[in-house]
Amino acid sequence: MSTVDVAETKDTIQVRSHVQYITKEHISPDNVHPSPLEQFHIWFNEARNGAVREPDAMCLSTATASGVPSSRMVLFKQLDKHGFVFYTNYTSRKSKDLDENPNAALLFFWQEMSRQVRILGRAEKVSKEESEEYFQSRPMGSQLGALASKQSTVIGENDLQERLDKLKKLYQVGEGSKEGKAPLPNFWGGWRVIPSEMEFWLGKPSRLHDRVRYTRVEGSADEEPEWTIERLSP
Ligand SMILES: Cc1cc2nc3c(=O)[nH]c(=O)nc-3n(C[C@H](O)[C@H](O)[C@H](O)COP(=O)(O)O)c2cc1C
Repeated sequence: MSTVDVAETKDTIQVRSHVQYITKEHISPDNVHPSPLEQFHIWFNEARNGAVREPDAMCLSTATASGVPSSRMVLFKQLDKHGFVFYTNYTSRKSKDLDENPNAALLFFWQEMSRQVRILGRAEKVSKEESEEYFQSRPMGSQLGALASKQSTVIGENDLQERLDKLKKLYQVGEGSKEGKAPLPNFWGGWRVIPSEMEFWLGKPSRLHDRVRYTRVEGSADEEPEWTIERLSP
């Protein structure tokens, strides 16, 4: 059931009310982990073990060199001590943006827990070996899907299916076959977003939300970054 109250006419939609956030917990610079990556780890596990249906779905925002922004959802695949990894086509719009402007933003919204996590940082391509390892761990169908799609280009109705049929023939993939190995195409792989700022947001009643922001101390070592932790007004 929808949680918004809407007034509609022929050419307008007006949203009049939104569900109230009711979380009783409280976050502040005093009770979060000193490292935002560790804090993310805690929240991600709570989302994963709680009622969140797609805790790994995140919004990625990029911008062209001249600052034209665009956003889309991608799947979070890995967090290590450096940053957040997702996989995509290297010729897609997002990758073209990141090639010319490495500044990226990620956003997780875990609605069922009234939580949001914002991440700002610099994106760089993961190594070929990492992409290869991930690509080979995927089911054959996903591998062929990645090979077949010239992501973000304009296509005709049957183009994708025709390319897929050719690839199936090439790699001798039959109906329902799960096995097989397609090679990692050079136009596909991972990006790692290395955070310089992260914010944890907790929805509270009457818009009195908790916000805790971590800002990376400039010049602190890549291996063990230092963070300033502050509480922000909602
Ligand atoms: C929940 C969700 C997860 C997605 N995950 C990915 C992903 O991991 N990689 C990807 O390339 N596209 C993913 N997509 C599709 C993208 O949102 C987008 O349509 C596509 O990457 C092309 O974006 P671009 O033209 O801005 O490059 C996902 C879409 C949704 C709704």
